[in-house]
Amino acid sequence: MKKIAVLTSGGDAPGMNAAIRAVVRKGIFEGLEVCGIFNGYQGLIDGKIEPLSAGSVGDIIQRGGTMLRSSRCPEFKTERGRERALDQLRERGIEGLVVIGGDGSFRGALELSKAGFPCVGVPATIDNDINGTDYTLGFDTALNTVIDAIDKIRDTATSHERTFIVEVMGRDAGDLALWAGVAGGAETILIPERPYDLGEIVSRLQQGKDRGKKHSILIVAEGVMGGQELAAGLMDDAGIETRVSVLGHIQRGGTPSGRDRVLASRFGARAVEALLAGRAGVAVGMREHAVIDYPLAEVFDGGDAKDLGLYDLSKELSI
Ligand code: F6P
Repeated sequence: MKKIAVLTSGGDAPGMNAAIRAVVRKGIFEGLEVCGIFNGYQGLIDGKIEPLSAGSVGDIIQRGGTMLRSSRCPEFKTERGRERALDQLRERGIEGLVVIGGDGSFRGALELSKAGFPCVGVPATIDNDINGTDYTLGFDTALNTVIDAIDKIRDTATSHERTFIVEVMGRDAGDLALWAGVAGGAETILIPERPYDLGEIVSRLQQGKDRGKKHSILIVAEGVMGGQELAAGLMDDAGIETRVSVLGHIQRGGTPSGRDRVLASRFGARAVEALLAGRAGVAVGMREHAVIDYPLAEVFDGGDAKDLGLYDLSKELSI
């Protein structure tokens, strides 16, 4: 293998730039030519491909977003779109591809692998929802962003003795909400992986009040419902007045944490190693503190049920 390429796809996540840097520098270290594909799979179809040097990825390890830009690309879901993409790769003599992104991006990488083109996926999404890896790039940074927001909201909640609802991203997954809720000392955390009972939320709030609690913070993952919907439910059911903060895309931006930068460096390098070793059609990941690679297909096979011990603990600690 002499020439590989790297792209970022789907929602951006802090640490993507650090991963691009790792792929490029590790590739060059191993004697490869490395190209950058701009604007994700759409850019691949359109041939937006340029060689990258070690210097061209300097001064990006600390930056959020992605220097290669990103997109969500419906055309790549079609066979025709993927054929055009493969033509672009082959015309340039590119023999392997590193895809940095979330599960939608991994589906694309799996399709290319099935078509015989060597691909490796690097998991990057604030949602932490990729089967097979304990952590995805961007999760730690987004977690710290949410914790920071909760801490600030708590100041107002305390000063005004209010109940606050904080709506957290995560698509269909509750990791970001759960971890942030535990770290932020939230009274109630609603995640899609667990059913909730409005009556129970109301009685917990009431019990807290009876014990002299002056304020409460409820975290709701967007995959359960919107913060405004929960606020309306609490008002209609029990006359409880709340304020709602929807954190939105601030959770996706910002300088990556040290942990995400290190993880990105290790993931990016491992992706290149996997391509060079001929282990195509794999995703890299972290399991029990070790960097691994495993078949991309495992990402979509349903996977092991997540350990939700942290959810049970959150209930015990928020009495
Ligand atoms: O997957 C990352 C994520 O931020 C989700 O948490 C969220 O549901 C979604 O992307 C938002 O997507 P968009 O930026 O396209 O609105």
